[in-house]
Amino acid sequence: MCGIVGYVGRASAASVIISGLKRLEYRGYDSSGLAVLTDGGLATAKSAGKLANLEDLLRQRPLPGGSTAIGHTRWATHGGPTSANAHPHLDNAKRVAVVHNGIIENFAALRAELAERGHEMASETDTEVVAHLLAEHFAATGDLAEAMRGVCRRLDGAFTLVAVHADVPDTVVGARRDSPLVVGVGEGEYFLASDVAAFIAHTREAIELGQDQVVELRPGSVTVTDVHGEPAEVRPYTVDWDVSAAEKGGYDQFMLKEIAEQPKAVADTLRGRIDAEGNLTLDEIGLAAHVLREVDKIIVVACGTAFHAGLIARYAIERWTRVPCEVELASEFRYRHPIVDSRSLVVAISQSGETMDTLMALRHAREAGAKVLAICNTNGSTIPRESDAVLYTHAGPEVAVASTKAFLTQVVACYLVALHMGQARGTADTAWSGDVATVKRELLGMDKLLSQVVEAMEPVRELARSLRDKNTVLFLGRHLGYPVALEGALKLKELAYMHAEGFAAGELKHGPIALIEQDLPVVVIVPREDSPLHDKIVSNIQEIRARGARTIVVAEDGDKAVVPYADHLIRTPRTHSMLQPLIATVPLQVFACELATARGNEVDQPRNLAKSVTVE
Ligand code: G6P
Repeated sequence: MCGIVGYVGRASAASVIISGLKRLEYRGYDSSGLAVLTDGGLATAKSAGKLANLEDLLRQRPLPGGSTAIGHTRWATHGGPTSANAHPHLDNAKRVAVVHNGIIENFAALRAELAERGHEMASETDTEVVAHLLAEHFAATGDLAEAMRGVCRRLDGAFTLVAVHADVPDTVVGARRDSPLVVGVGEGEYFLASDVAAFIAHTREAIELGQDQVVELRPGSVTVTDVHGEPAEVRPYTVDWDVSAAEKGGYDQFMLKEIAEQPKAVADTLRGRIDAEGNLTLDEIGLAAHVLREVDKIIVVACGTAFHAGLIARYAIERWTRVPCEVELASEFRYRHPIVDSRSLVVAISQSGETMDTLMALRHAREAGAKVLAICNTNGSTIPRESDAVLYTHAGPEVAVASTKAFLTQVVACYLVALHMGQARGTADTAWSGDVATVKRELLGMDKLLSQVVEAMEPVRELARSLRDKNTVLFLGRHLGYPVALEGALKLKELAYMHAEGFAAGELKHGPIALIEQDLPVVVIVPREDSPLHDKIVSNIQEIRARGARTIVVAEDGDKAVVPYADHLIRTPRTHSMLQPLIATVPLQVFACELATARGNEVDQPRNLAKSVTVE
């Protein structure tokens, strides 16, 4: 939520900032702005709406040149998405410029205090108080990094701050608490950004910043301290993907590209973890076998699409480990005083590794003595940093706001964790779950099956276009098909802005069937023919069709029983029943993407949403 970039170097800072913001626009796109240090002064430009508006403004009124700058793309919290509320925010003398991601919880008290000292505010934001406080602290200390440390000591809440001062040339300072900030180290230039994507076109060398650290970038030096000025330990690392991974690569939308990348993302997530003989090695997560054996309860916490991956994980975990597993929305978890202790394992699933609700849930779990395992796609992000153990998904950067390839790889990672724990506990190869060898084999062939699915999506697109004027679509599934139905409905809400709901098909007669009316599209995820639930779902399809529903049936190749009752039939390749969610989700992603496009919506940046939700 909100994207931040800072730059110190030799290039034209404004263009570095704008190209960085373009790569961060997925984090928020309500308004944007930048500030450039000029010869002894500060030049700023801000605009409401998407970054393109700021670019137009800069074409009409270019800023004076400079090689030190900061920029911001906003997802509004305090104050509407107006130009006045856009960042950067300045002090009254217009010498300090600040950009911010997060929420400053004590801003009202600070604002009142500043007003008493004669400061006048120009916006409704919580951020503006930081610019004013920074100006005061700088006047007292003459040192911008020290001023930033002083300000941080006064702030409550979560924040990333990046600032410049017209009296301190060639210098950018930043601070982070509970929100992401990474340093990029180039040749004679440095970057500060919410995400490495902002500087990946310039360098892959990065430095991870820790909690409550303050960084000062100057030509030739990066200095990191804690908020008291003590030198801080930092971790340098090399980003393992390059700029091409963060570009559209010939696709019209990032989402289409990311859907097409799913076979590779799944293969990359399995690589080195299951070998050709079917041996599973997951020692990298760093949880000792005795810890895995002693666990008596597993709780999965996550938000949004990652929560749906968690719902799928429960089936795999209980099947292969025989340990009871709960799945909880991270935003609900800590508020119900969950029963968690040192024998609990909490699995936190997050693509970004920055989702505030998930972070707060894991902190709560650790305080209660539980071990936390993160399943995450973003190296060096806060959630894995604060967990006891981590299993990275290797989906590569996901830019479209609606998650696709990250979801599939989260599901794969959950299967791996469940199999690994089952192996450690000796439960994965019992007669009851003697299917483990088949699952591993089929996982290794999953990229090929997914490629077949991705390549056969034209009929789904055609169907989606034909439904562009509908208001509602329902999704039904059972067992592992239920989370798939929920995910299909979420995708449609996010992208097509349609009323979409997922139901457990068994619940149909307890309420949802009242929603069925003539020609209402209902997508039904059908389990394998040999599943005990198959015939029950086929009955459900008949029940809704008898009441006028237009049935869209997702069923495996060769399933003849569904044919008479399917108004539209989406065929998927056969796979092990535990792995069906990997296959069945893909048509629903394509369906939502195409329907949104047909309705004229912006698929990569749906209204009101942000990819990384870093506020509670
Ligand atoms: C936002 C995104 C979703 C994502 C969710 C959780 O709502 O729009 O696509 O599933 O956050 O994000 P995370 O990064 O924790 O997986």
